[in-house]
Amino acid sequence: MTRLRTIHRCTDCGVATPRWVGRCPACGAWNSLVEDVEEVGPSTALARRGTASGPVEGAAPITEVDATGGMARPTGVDELDRVLGGGLVAGSVTLLGGEPGIGKSTLLLEVCGRAAGLGRRVLYVSGEESRQQVRSRAERVGAVHPELWLASEVSLPRIITLIDQVHPELLVIDSIQTLHDPELDSAPGSLVQVRECANGLVRAAKQRGLPVVLVGHVTKDGGLAGPRVLEHVVDTVLSFEGERHHALRMLRATKHRFGPTNELGLFEMAEVGLVGVPDAGLLFLSDRRPGVPGSAVAATVEGQRPLLVEVQALVAPSELANPRRAAQGLDPGRLAMLLAVLERRAGLSFAKADVYVSAAGGVRLSEPGTDLAVCLALASALTDRPLPEGLVACGEVGLGSELRQVAQTPRRLAEAARLGFTHAVVPASASGFTGMEVVRAATVLVPLLGLGLLNG
Ligand code: TYD
Ligand code: MG
Repeated sequence: MTRLRTIHRCTDCGVATPRWVGRCPACGAWNSLVEDVEEVGPSTALARRGTASGPVEGAAPITEVDATGGMARPTGVDELDRVLGGGLVAGSVTLLGGEPGIGKSTLLLEVCGRAAGLGRRVLYVSGEESRQQVRSRAERVGAVHPELWLASEVSLPRIITLIDQVHPELLVIDSIQTLHDPELDSAPGSLVQVRECANGLVRAAKQRGLPVVLVGHVTKDGGLAGPRVLEHVVDTVLSFEGERHHALRMLRATKHRFGPTNELGLFEMAEVGLVGVPDAGLLFLSDRRPGVPGSAVAATVEGQRPLLVEVQALVAPSELANPRRAAQGLDPGRLAMLLAVLERRAGLSFAKADVYVSAAGGVRLSEPGTDLAVCLALASALTDRPLPEGLVACGEVGLGSELRQVAQTPRRLAEAARLGFTHAVVPASASGFTGMEVVRAATVLVPLLGLGLLNG
């Protein structure tokens, strides 16, 4: 006999404790524990120890296993397919997370419209909006097609019934937080409901070979009922980000069982929905004013995609005992480390100054290849001397001030040359590029000296 026992589970890390406590004993998060149930009793233990009674799928040599079932099928939205490494895999479950209002419903409605346009039947289930509301949005983004079926439904068993009536080739659930299973006595939106509904949909997807996309709302601090817990349940986790006041939206995979997780998808929110940005080109440089101290251009790469991004620094005298260090679009720890390298190895002093660094356009610099550009921007801001126009930088800066090679340097520089940049500073160990004047430097001191950015 299986029994259910009440426990408390952390919504951040998923750990279970028998009693409620104010702080998670595993990850240290405050007020993150919510009530949950867990199965106890001999049945689970016996199933693990004993032999299975029903038919089991045997072991087979890898060469005889059919891999075509795992092939990705393009959705028709190119920037999404880029992030997914081709498209959606049959029977896979994808969670699309993002803050409310960022554009998740819009993106998925466009995906549905494209798929329907390719002759595939699609079922879009909204638990938040009526069918009329979804239809009027679909008209706005050009997704109206007879193969796109709409339902406004929140009950899991009824959604499973709908799947077997409509026979879709793609299912979208908007959002997982609105679903509930009447067989569970927890309230809709609770962790138990969200997780069990996701589990039910995963089973339904696998049994039918149906690709499913779930929307999951995430608050600014990354929380809310379950996305963390859901990450273990689904095959792919996509995160949709952007500044609400900017049109730019970025799509990344943080978990992906069927491909790479480092690709970046770019969209712009327009009057007609989300428009893919296949050529990022001057996107992160467009408002740059040449000749201003504190501005440097980093040649970075996200997945297979080279991106040129303006890095800005401002250094202002400070009265504070602990001067301010503000980083927007880059890791504050990385900024602190680069400041320490400039102080200790290059003799530049930021001790009595507030330092602000930001990556233009709301982009996030997650890659060490941008270190050199950050250092050049900081030194340029401190000395009040602008960097030459047409200069790009790429390279990781080590604690000893050495410049380290980063992946795909030729590709970064080729993109810079295409956009009209003429000079580059790269690590001494990098090679294999033409089309620009390239300075290869062993340490960060070389370009600082060459550009006249060292005091005294
Ligand atoms: P939405 O997809 O509803 O966000 P989410 O599902 O993540 O909560 O997007 C909402 C915002 O997008 C809304 O503020 C209006 C804007 N928007 C446009 O600018 N253009 C459009 O064509 C559409 C459909 C929405
Ligand atoms: Mg929505």
